[in-house]
Amino acid sequence: MKQRLLLIAIAFLIVACSSSLKKASISSPNEAITVNFNLTEKGEPTYQVLFKNKVVVDTSFLGFEFTDAEPLKDNFEIKAFGTVSKNDPWEMPWGEQLKVENEYNELIVFLIEKDTERSVNVIFRVHDDGIGLRYEFQQQDGWTEALIKEEKTQFNLTQDYKTFWIPGDWDIYEHLYNTTKLSEIDALQFANHKDLAQTSIPNNAVNTPVTLVGDDGLHLSFHEAGLVDYSGMTLGVDTENLSFESILVGSDNTEYKVKRQIPFKTPWRTIQITDNAPDLIASNLIVNLNEPTKIHDMSWFTPMKYTGVWWEMHLGKSSWDYGMTQNMSTWTDTGGAHGKHGATTENVKRFIDFSAKNNIGGVLVEGWNTGWEHWIGFEDREGVFDFVTPYPDYDLDGVTRYAKEKGVEIIMHHETSSATETYTKQMDTAYALMQKYGMHSVKSGYVGKILPKGEYHHGQYMVNHYNNAAIKAAKYQVAVNAHEPIKATGLRRTYPNIISREGLRGQEFNAWSSDGGNPPEHLPIVAFTRMLAGPIDYTPGIFNIKFDEYKPNNQVNTTIAQQLALYVVIYSPIQMAADLVEHYEANPEPFQFIKDVGVDWQQTKVLNGEVGDYVTIARQERETGNWFVGGITNENARTLDITFDFLDENQKYEAIIYKDGENAHWDDNPLDIIIEKIDVNKGSDLSVKLAEGGGFAISIKKLD
Ligand code: NOJ
Ligand code: CA
Repeated sequence: MKQRLLLIAIAFLIVACSSSLKKASISSPNEAITVNFNLTEKGEPTYQVLFKNKVVVDTSFLGFEFTDAEPLKDNFEIKAFGTVSKNDPWEMPWGEQLKVENEYNELIVFLIEKDTERSVNVIFRVHDDGIGLRYEFQQQDGWTEALIKEEKTQFNLTQDYKTFWIPGDWDIYEHLYNTTKLSEIDALQFANHKDLAQTSIPNNAVNTPVTLVGDDGLHLSFHEAGLVDYSGMTLGVDTENLSFESILVGSDNTEYKVKRQIPFKTPWRTIQITDNAPDLIASNLIVNLNEPTKIHDMSWFTPMKYTGVWWEMHLGKSSWDYGMTQNMSTWTDTGGAHGKHGATTENVKRFIDFSAKNNIGGVLVEGWNTGWEHWIGFEDREGVFDFVTPYPDYDLDGVTRYAKEKGVEIIMHHETSSATETYTKQMDTAYALMQKYGMHSVKSGYVGKILPKGEYHHGQYMVNHYNNAAIKAAKYQVAVNAHEPIKATGLRRTYPNIISREGLRGQEFNAWSSDGGNPPEHLPIVAFTRMLAGPIDYTPGIFNIKFDEYKPNNQVNTTIAQQLALYVVIYSPIQMAADLVEHYEANPEPFQFIKDVGVDWQQTKVLNGEVGDYVTIARQERETGNWFVGGITNENARTLDITFDFLDENQKYEAIIYKDGENAHWDDNPLDIIIEKIDVNKGSDLSVKLAEGGGFAISIKKLD
C-alpha cells in the first residue's frame, strides 16, 4: 500500500496519429539514453538507442514469424503512440538493498498492419541504467492464438566489443565464459569442446546475460526480464555485421517455439547501458521491469547461511544413494555405495550441531529420499524419485525435531532428475510435508535431459514448470532455490519466494570437472554477467582448497581469502558454508568471517571493478548496520585502494581484514592468509594486495 502511494504518474499521453507519422522518441529521466522508433518506407518497425548522443544500437528491425500465419514485419502504420513517466520506488523484502529507485519514461507504439488490421504494440521503457523493450499482442478480431515460430528482435551494434559470453545452449548455463571480440564469437566451436558434447545449440548463439565492453568505456549487457509463459531467448550472433538477433529456445515436439492465447505481453528484452563496470552491478533494471510483489507476507522466509550434506558427495567421501533398493518392505544391497550414504541421522545431526554453534541458520540434506539408485544416466527416470520417503537410515521426524530444538532449519532437497511429470504430480504432497515440518526452503534440481523427451530446460514448457513450481511452493510458504534452472529474469520481485538459483558453473565443478574446474577469471566475469540477472547459489567457503585426500586431480582455483570474499561479492539471500565440518574446525580464524558475515543487505556499493579482472563490493547488513566488504581478482595479482566513505559520520568501527598473505597464490600457496584488526571511520583509506586468484574480505563492526 505504502509503495502504491509513492507511485507518482507525472504524465500520461496518448496521441492518435495521422498515417504520415512514422517516428517517436523517448529518453531516460536523466536524458542520457534515448530510444528512437521509426517506421521505414515499407512500414517495417525499427528502433535505435543512443547513449550520451552516441548511437549504441543502430537501426534494428522488430518482428515475428508464426507457424500458421504470415510474419509480422512490415506494412505497418502507427495507429497511435503513448508516453508515460513514472517514479515507482519499492522495497525488497530481502535483497542487495532495501530501497530501490525505479524511475522511467515509457513509449508505447500502437502498430496496425495495413491490409490485415492485425495489431501489435511495441513498448519501450527507458531508465537511467538501460532500456527494456517488449511486444504486446492486444485483443483483436480474428486472432486468438499466436503460434510463434521465431521472434525477430535485432540489436544492431556499432563497435566490435570485447564480449563475455557463454554459448546459447538450450539445456544448460554451466559453461565457462569466453572472452572474444564480438566478431570472433564462435559458440558452436566452443560448445563442441570435448566435455560439452551433449549441448544443443542450433546456431552461433549466446545465452544471456552477455556483457560487452567498448574501447570508449561503454558497457552493455543484454538479457531479458519477466520471463513468463514464453521460451527463453538466446541471441544469434552475426559476426560480420556486429549484431544480435533473438533466437527463442524451441522444442522437438512442436513446430512453434511459443504458444500463447492473445492478449499477452512478451518478456522484456533488456540492455543495461553504463559507462563503467561497477554501475552494471548497481543497476536494478531487471528487477524494476518486473511486476510488483504478489506475495505480501514473506515474514516466514529468513535469509540465512547454511551448511549441508553436499560437498562430501561431490568429493566422493559419501554418496547420495543408500546403495540398496526396496522391494515391498525388503531392502536389497545393490552393491554400489552402500555404507557410504551421506544423509544419515548421525551425520545430519553433526551438521546441525555445528551450524547451531556458529550462527548458521540452515542445514541442507541431499540424498535423504529414495530414488538415488536410478537417477543420473537412466532414460526411464519418471516415477523414480519420491519426495516424501526417507531412506531407512534417516530419521526425518527425529532430525527435524532435533534441528528445531537447536534453532536450525532443515533445507529440503528435491532432485527431480528432470522427470518433470513425476515432480509435478508430487509437488503438493512434497510441499505439504515441508510445511508440516516447518521447512521453508527447498533446493530443487534438474539434472539430465528433460522428460518429456524433446523439451529443453529453457523452452516454454520448462519456463512454465519452474514458474508454476515456485508459485505453488509459495502457497505452502516454501522458498525455492533451483539448480539447473531457467535463467533469473527478476521474477523475484513478483515472487520473492524465488530466492536463489544456480544457472552457472558453480563450485561443484571444482570438485570433479575434468577440465580443472573454474579458472580464477571465472567469478570476476560472473559478477558482471550472470550476477546481473539475480542471486546465485554458488556455494562458497571451501577451505580445504586442494582436497588431495579425496580428489588429487582437482582443486579450487582461488585462495582461501577469495573464498571468504565471495560471501559479499556473489549475492544470494542463502549462502552456503559449503566445506566439511572438519575443515572449518581445523581453521577457526578464517572461519570467524563466515560466522560474522551478513546475508541480508540494507545497501550495496560497488567500489571498483573491471569485467573479468576484479571487483570490490561493500554491503551493509540490514539488522545491525555493520558493513562487509569483499574483493576478488582473476589470475593477476593487484593492489586495490579502498576509501571507507560509505561509513556513517562520527561512528567508530572495528575492521577485521582477511587478506592474501605475502606468498599467497591460488595454485602454489592458496592457504596463505593474513588476518588483522584495525579501527576505521568514514573516509579512512586502505590499500590491499590481492594475490593471483586471490581476494580479501573485511567485516566492519560498529564500536560503541
Ligand atoms: C547438481 C546440483 O548443482 C548439485 O548442487 C547437486 O548436489 C546435484 N545436482 C544433486 O542434486
Ligand atoms: Ca549443477
